[in-house]
Amino acid sequence: MITAPLFTPLSVRGVTLANRVVMSPMTRGFSPDGLPGPDVASYYQRRAEGETGLIITEGVGIDHPSALGEAGLGENSIPTLAGSESVEAWRRVTDGVHASGGVIFPQLWHMGPMKEANTGPVPTAPPMRPSGLWGPAGRQTSLDANYLTRVQPATRAMTDEEIADVIAAYRRSASYAKAAGFDGIALHGGHGYLIDSFLWNETNQRIDAWGKDRAARSRFAAEVVRAIRAEIGDTIPISFRFSQWKQQDFKARLATTPDELEQILTPLAEAGVDIFEASTRYFNRAEFEGSDMNLAGWAKKVTGKLSMTVGGIGINKGYYDSMAGAETIAQPDLAPLLARFLSGEFDLIGVGRSLLHDAQWARRARLGEPFLGFSTDSLTSLT
Ligand SMILES: Cc1cc2nc3c(=O)[nH]c(=O)nc-3n(C[C@H](O)[C@H](O)[C@H](O)COP(=O)(O)O)c2cc1C
Repeated sequence: MITAPLFTPLSVRGVTLANRVVMSPMTRGFSPDGLPGPDVASYYQRRAEGETGLIITEGVGIDHPSALGEAGLGENSIPTLAGSESVEAWRRVTDGVHASGGVIFPQLWHMGPMKEANTGPVPTAPPMRPSGLWGPAGRQTSLDANYLTRVQPATRAMTDEEIADVIAAYRRSASYAKAAGFDGIALHGGHGYLIDSFLWNETNQRIDAWGKDRAARSRFAAEVVRAIRAEIGDTIPISFRFSQWKQQDFKARLATTPDELEQILTPLAEAGVDIFEASTRYFNRAEFEGSDMNLAGWAKKVTGKLSMTVGGIGINKGYYDSMAGAETIAQPDLAPLLARFLSGEFDLIGVGRSLLHDAQWARRARLGEPFLGFSTDSLTSLT
């Protein structure tokens, strides 16, 4: 089977993944009052039974009052790792995944500028923004126009004390994750949320040690990683998701050259990141001129760490192209992906929508069985 190389184990710190297929983090909104129940536990367990090598959960709100905005409340809310009740709820999820031979990391999430004031589990908590900026107006985005009008006005910049509080909240949530039996920690450092808003010069215009240059803009992310590493010790891996694109601006770029990427990611690697997840829409696109290599390839090359690619694996269209109406069908030909993997470009493959649609996707890929015809219904249900 051509996919056999993907079904080789990979050890990272004290954890061994059975294969290279990773469930990419996907927000589901099925955790009433922030607590995942039995339906969420069996949803993840089915992906472990289907031979997914690593499950990265949906974004999980950290233990900070402004971590989550809208969709952080009620029946359809986003889960959190904030206190003993959430530890117990997640313990049932990790137990199920482990019983089926799987490995699972939570994706720790703070929405930062994307949290709208007066929304979320703590409506009065102000949005956290490095410079008070949401992002530039008028860029390409898929966000609702009314939301944009409400969030674009500048608020005040985060104080040093607020920065320290958020870092401490990441650390607390990592300790809850460890107590809940998670095997590693994944950080959401992309898509324009809090960590990314420190990395991006359009949202971080501070002139102090948190923003005066590219290295300073990486400092917040590095301090979060350092705090988590101090909490969880040396045997538990940390994975860090980053992206060039932002929800505020699909065409944004943090780095326009490999050199710039190295300046951004090196402090994170030094702080304790083991895996870089390069969030792209299409895994098969070159990132910088003069080379065919994708963003995950460059992340691996400039840091010497492991990397994961993602975007359109097992499917013909990227997420936003599908939402814009492009016909989306299963893409059975994994040969282009395999060619890049075999050249050593990346170590792991992130699978998003294909794994929502079919919990058995990894097993099917191993056996060379046909993939199921894609349907967008799976985006809105917990099958
Ligand atoms: C329903 C849905 C929810 C998502 N939620 C998140 C999220 O919480 N965190 C994140 O980093 N990415 C999120 N993503 C992005 C996916 O992890 C992935 O990068 C993207 O879907 C591209 O992979 P695919 O082409 O295999 O679907 C989400 C994607 C989908 C489809």
